Amino acid sequence: MELLEAIRRRKTTNTPFRPDRVSDEHKRLLIEAASRAPSHFNSQPWRFILIEDKARIHQIADIAGDAMKQLMNEGAFVARYRRYFRFSTEESMAAGNGIYVDNLPSVLRPMVKLIFSEQVGTMLSRLGVSNILGHDQRRIVRDAPLLMAIALDKQEYKPGELSGLYASITLGAVIQTLWLVTTALDMGMQFISTPLEVPESKARLVTLLKIPDDYELVAMFRMGYKDPAAARNTIDWTSNQRKHFAELARYNDWDTPLPEEMASARSLLWEGHEMPNQP
Ligand SMILES: Cc1cc2nc3c(=O)[nH]c(=O)nc-3n(C[C@H](O)[C@H](O)[C@H](O)COP(=O)(O)O)c2cc1C
Repeated sequence: MELLEAIRRRKTTNTPFRPDRVSDEHKRLLIEAASRAPSHFNSQPWRFILIEDKARIHQIADIAGDAMKQLMNEGAFVARYRRYFRFSTEESMAAGNGIYVDNLPSVLRPMVKLIFSEQVGTMLSRLGVSNILGHDQRRIVRDAPLLMAIALDKQEYKPGELSGLYASITLGAVIQTLWLVTTALDMGMQFISTPLEVPESKARLVTLLKIPDDYELVAMFRMGYKDPAAARNTIDWTSNQRKHFAELARYNDWDTPLPEEMASARSLLWEGHEMPNQP
């Protein structure tokens, strides 16, 4: 697959994968390609754990499901991120960012305003939303043929210090490479971040994966071959929309917008393709 084609097609896969095992060649390609990412002083501070053992995947799924339910019940998670929640096409298009919760049981639709209330955690619990999300998270992780954990060398990953920033930058480069390669292989990929947001859940993962003290667990993903026929989660979202590039970029300094010729130049990325500016 051509690079631009992979960039166009890369997206989060929220749905289940095919049950097939990911081939050893593909797993090897993922790690070899990721290792070509830039890192400060070529330090290569990332280590990868490929998890295929079913019993371990099931344990991780339980941890992820519990963490999701807990985060929703506490309300703080939704409160922290609610500025990114969209509930209509118009809202989503106008903002150009955030996640559009487009798949929601109709009985819950009238309740979306509650997300902005102070008691959001209690409401999500009472309406059964925390249970649904926890259950979906557990199921979707449990059914994945491959999980990948990434850990960073703590000699480099020191939050608050410059080396912490540099380690985060190289981590981003690694993750984007993984994502583009999975896309090229007709695989999908999804972050499983919720257990990393709950300290006890993260500690359970660190123990389960036997991550040593000098490494920090920083990211988890589920991966597998895409299944175009897969059903969506009970509550689900899309996030195809992007801000226009002229809104994202400035020219020579912060105060100056892009010259008109550049802003109106033809799109090499999207020419001949449907631009996913629709949520
Ligand atoms: C650091 C980070 C953590 C993320 N955590 C999650 C996650 O826990 N679950 C999930 O489904 N997506 C997660 N995402 C994916 C974003 O929601 C997604 O990339 C964004 O909405 C754009 O959608 P797209 O990837 O389909 O283009 C995460 C992304 C980043 C960069």
